[in-house]
Amino acid sequence: MTVTTKESRDVIKTVDEVVDEFHARSEELIPILMKLNQELGFISSEALERISTRMHIPQSQVYSVASFYHMINTKPTGRHVIKFCESAPCHVAGGREVWEAVQKELEIKPEETSKDGKWTLKTTSCLGVCAVGPVMMVDDDIYGNLTPDQLPDIFAKYQ
Ligand code: FES
Repeated sequence: MTVTTKESRDVIKTVDEVVDEFHARSEELIPILMKLNQELGFISSEALERISTRMHIPQSQVYSVASFYHMINTKPTGRHVIKFCESAPCHVAGGREVWEAVQKELEIKPEETSKDGKWTLKTTSCLGVCAVGPVMMVDDDIYGNLTPDQLPDIFAKYQ
């Protein structure tokens, strides 16, 4: 499976660069994790260990912060990450039907990555654009007023 990952030495180097950028301040742990998530694709056990060493924060604490936030991945992800809004306003606007169609179209379940490494499917709470529900994000793109028949065209835009 193709996943967004980096060689070991790159992981250490990237962690060091980002931790240094934030001066290894413990109160900057969340921004550090978010930036590393962006750069590395996910926070691997190797990255966790290095962050812990560099910031003098126990690994268990780094992991619990990383796993708490939906936008930070603790597992390898596909080339494109879909976040589907599961909050009530989107749900009542037809979200359930679209959500089922997304899973069927991509042949994956929530929190799974497709066998070809292209897609990772996640749910998220409200994205702040409830007026155009149902809503999903594909990478940084937001799609609203979704219906099941729009999905093939949307997914076809991503390689
Ligand atoms: S409930 Fe879905 S964007 Fe707000």
